Amino acid sequence: MNNIKISTLNKAIFEQIDLPDNAVVADLGCKDAGFLVGLQQAFHDKIQKAIGVDITDKWFKDVKYKKPIKLKVMDCSKKLKFPDNSFDFVFSADMFECVSDKELLVSEIHRILKPGGTVICVNCDWESIAYNGENKALISKALHAYAVTKQPWMDDLDSWIGRRMYGIFNKSKLFESSVSVHNVVETEYKDGFLGFDFSKDIAWLFEENTGALSKEEYDEFIKNLELAQENGSYIFSKPYYIYKGIRI
Ligand SMILES: C[S@@+](CC[C@H](N)C(=O)[O-])C[C@H]1O[C@@H](n2cnc3c(N)ncnc32)[C@H](O)[C@@H]1O
Repeated sequence: MNNIKISTLNKAIFEQIDLPDNAVVADLGCKDAGFLVGLQQAFHDKIQKAIGVDITDKWFKDVKYKKPIKLKVMDCSKKLKFPDNSFDFVFSADMFECVSDKELLVSEIHRILKPGGTVICVNCDWESIAYNGENKALISKALHAYAVTKQPWMDDLDSWIGRRMYGIFNKSKLFESSVSVHNVVETEYKDGFLGFDFSKDIAWLFEENTGALSKEEYDEFIKNLELAQENGSYIFSKPYYIYKGIRI
């Protein structure tokens, strides 16, 4: 969540957050704590404690975080190592799809939230990402291959996780549920932009010999995006589903 362009998404999320005084907040799957740093800036007078957890600490050293943010290694696919009723707000972005027992995670979020507390889970709907470019079949192939190919660190993968989040929480009957969608749209293919960075992530498919996309196909895919940038037709669009639940 550190990309400059993602700040519009953070703004859409922050508008949905109403923290009590001395709030205790958690980010599950926090990576480099970019969201918590932004939250702390937006609600600095309200937050007493902010805890970010991730299955690995490999990104923690890159973080410019400070008190009251604390980071811990924790596997969110298991019972969460937090006491009952301990948080006013629990956040998670693009982590749910990596966990196979989603019902356990939903019930764990309910357990660690205080009654009336809020959970917000933000998930990209990977199969709904769009680039514009000349070669429709190839661009669709690259996007689909990335959406459905499981990376080694993932316990599970669901390329439709964005549209599924509402149902996953709502059917538990543990939350009052609502959902909205924030679409990040870019018209420039440049370093530092979400669509540019994402196109580089797709290289993983041939670098790791997944068989899902060849180097030739990847190079052609990148050429299509560069050409679209040159002729003024480049578009990148990424929809984030924002699930909001109030703990019953
Ligand atoms: C796609 S990244 C999203 C990171 C961050 N939430 C963001 O939006 O920028 C997914 C994160 O979830 C973490 N993760 C995956 N499985 C996890 C698990 N079982 N428990 C905790 N974290 C996990 C990964 O290490 C990674 O940091």
